[in-house]
Amino acid sequence: MKADKAAIVILGATGDLAQRKLIPALDLLYQQNNLGEGTILVGSGRKPVSHEDFKSLFNASKDFEKQMFYHQGIEGLWDYLKTKGEFNRIIVFLALPPETYEKVTGDLAKEGFGEETFLIVEKPFGRDIETARHLNRTLTTHFREDHIFRSDHYLAKEAVQNILIFRFANSVFEPSWNNHFVESIQINAFEEIGVEDRGAYYDTAGSIRDMIQNHLFQLLCLVTMEAPVSLNSEDIRNQKINILKNLRVVNTYRGQYEGYRNEKGIKENSDTETYAEMELRIDNYRWAGVPIYIRTGKATNRKGTEIGLKFKHLPEILFNQGGNLEPNKIIIKVQPAEGILLDLSGKIPGMNMEIVGTKMAFCYRESFNQNIPEAYQKLLLDALKGDRTLFVSARETETSWEVIQPYLDTGDVFIYRKGSCPKTSFGDIWIDFSQYAGFC
Ligand code: BG6
Repeated sequence: MKADKAAIVILGATGDLAQRKLIPALDLLYQQNNLGEGTILVGSGRKPVSHEDFKSLFNASKDFEKQMFYHQGIEGLWDYLKTKGEFNRIIVFLALPPETYEKVTGDLAKEGFGEETFLIVEKPFGRDIETARHLNRTLTTHFREDHIFRSDHYLAKEAVQNILIFRFANSVFEPSWNNHFVESIQINAFEEIGVEDRGAYYDTAGSIRDMIQNHLFQLLCLVTMEAPVSLNSEDIRNQKINILKNLRVVNTYRGQYEGYRNEKGIKENSDTETYAEMELRIDNYRWAGVPIYIRTGKATNRKGTEIGLKFKHLPEILFNQGGNLEPNKIIIKVQPAEGILLDLSGKIPGMNMEIVGTKMAFCYRESFNQNIPEAYQKLLLDALKGDRTLFVSARETETSWEVIQPYLDTGDVFIYRKGSCPKTSFGDIWIDFSQYAGFC
């Protein structure tokens, strides 16, 4: 389905997100003929910029450039849009710091953007439970809840979209996807980069707010939720909420990379975490008693987001006398390369019964001879179609803040070397995800 005659307005259009992600994604959608007839993009920012100078900020295709316009500020924006024609859908993307949302949404409403406008808001969605509730109230003062799209770009990553298909379109895995068979669930999201030029924002957030409350909790929900009643977005979102309602933090541990306090925008004595790990439990019938470990860090030794299910150890008999056999694992590789691995034991060819770890790998790039779309392409297209499945509901954001609230900014922060794998308080329970780097 194409979104014919849509006006996409990006507020904060000369900023980092628009430049790195949004405009390239829209350009690709346009080139792939997904944007439909008469769709335009209006960038808006505080600076006075000519249409031509605005276009020159991006490396967009010549055809898409013809659809791009710039308007300074929000005042007069509605009337400006009307000079460009009639639109079937108007979408406003707030690519702005969250502290501006309240004023900006009020200004948009005064301008005439109202009931029929669709609003996309970027994370962070609040910085704690109070601010998240306040933000939800503010947004719904001016816009309809079913027109508000809270974006979490992890949900649109290909390997993440595949989680529900892997679980519910295959009969082989689901019977063992529970506390009878699974010893632990582990989610790892490491980045090599530090805070770069986002210090001012990051120092008020830290890894727990920046990655765990949203991206990692969303991954966890998809891996552990019950089958939805239907594929309708509300049914899927409701199952995720059921997980969040039963989610309990057991332990947290925070770290900071050496040199972080000297980065631009960071307070001298900041104890904001750039690494965080958590042990959690889901208190429901399927998962009671299964430890869940999640961790995320910046400036670590590698980039990689993986989800692992470690299955229970075998009894110490037959091939496992001495208990040295590694338990089976299912590894979902989210990035940098997408794939699913089964980590099994197999026989080394030869005269002896020697056993070795082997992998069965399903790798996207080998299996599908096509480009994997960028997350923002999918998110923007879904928003144009009005499909909210990959967006987060108000209740999901609030419930995940409720889970995490007591653990924000608490405990000591240990220092780790830039470019290292931070030491963990959970010992050797972690799956060594780096061993799967060569696959896919
Ligand atoms: C963003 C965080 O939401 O996700 C960043 O604010 C982080 O700090 C980024 O770097 C990671 O996204 P990705 O897609 O590169 O894993």
